[in-house]
Amino acid sequence: MASILLVSGPNLNLLGAREPEIYGRDTLEEVVGDARAVAEANGHSLDHVQSNHEGDIVDAVQAARERHAAIVINPGAFTHYSYAIADALATFDGPKIELHLSNPSAREAWRRTSVVGPVVTGTVAGFGRHGYRLALEAAVALLKEAG
Ligand code: DQA
Repeated sequence: MASILLVSGPNLNLLGAREPEIYGRDTLEEVVGDARAVAEANGHSLDHVQSNHEGDIVDAVQAARERHAAIVINPGAFTHYSYAIADALATFDGPKIELHLSNPSAREAWRRTSVVGPVVTGTVAGFGRHGYRLALEAAVALLKEAG
């Protein structure tokens, strides 16, 4: 059994109320529930942290080095410019999955760059709420493969 860390970046605390036509009407608690269900169905546990602050996310990713086998992260807008979060993720050896509700590639030009993309194992984007389940399934599969 492994522990998986799910990280939610800025403004994701407002999920459900925030631009629902883009991000959906489900709350963060509900989508995290989907992720936890997949982790637990596969014998793993899920820790979730949400922060609007870059340094808190860097701290959480650093702490995961000791505590967690995989990271699923929706860095919110930090996706597009936080070299600090990218550097922190680069220090983590296990599977790392970048997750977005929307498809940033199909949106404004500034969202088309992900600075974390080059340091993660892979990205799940554009599937709305389903992405939380899909990202956890990817993490579980990669952990199984790694033995
Ligand atoms: C997001 C996409 C980002 O561009 C945006 O800043 C977010 C949410 C998503 O889940 O689609 O806050 O990461």
